[in-house]
Amino acid sequence: MTGDRDRLVAAAREACGSAHAPYSGIHVGVAIRSAAGATYTGINVENAAYPLGNCAEASAIAAGVRAEGERFRISESAVWALDREGRAIAISPCGGCRQRIHEFAEDTHVRIHFPWEYGELRTASVDELLPYAFELPASRNGR
Ligand code: THU
Repeated sequence: MTGDRDRLVAAAREACGSAHAPYSGIHVGVAIRSAAGATYTGINVENAAYPLGNCAEASAIAAGVRAEGERFRISESAVWALDREGRAIAISPCGGCRQRIHEFAEDTHVRIHFPWEYGELRTASVDELLPYAFELPASRNGR
């Protein structure tokens, strides 16, 4: 539904303002609507030791797991990013975050919204973002 999408985009955009991104200058916000109907947001948190930084998707997923435990599943998500001057920039989830989203997505049709070039909002399914996703053999994945 467009209403759900617009609410998620607005929440992701609002979250960007709390990002800690002094090194890249890319302030990322993510909003997730869970299968239970709750909304969780997350931001990127960078570190002077660069590889220690966290992506916004990881923060939002952590908030969801904290609140809902093992039942947490992603139904829909939006990402937004601002540059140092507060201008919207094109972004899509990085490779690692595609795997993170895949882990918790309700199914492979779950939609991810992201700002693309020329002010366009794009939507892709989890399967489009990460085809042939890695999964442990069913006997070992503990779920
Ligand atoms: N970043 C995210 O938070 N999510 C992504 O999916 C892509 C990249 C952050 C990590 C880093 O703080 C900054 O964007 C620049 O790479």
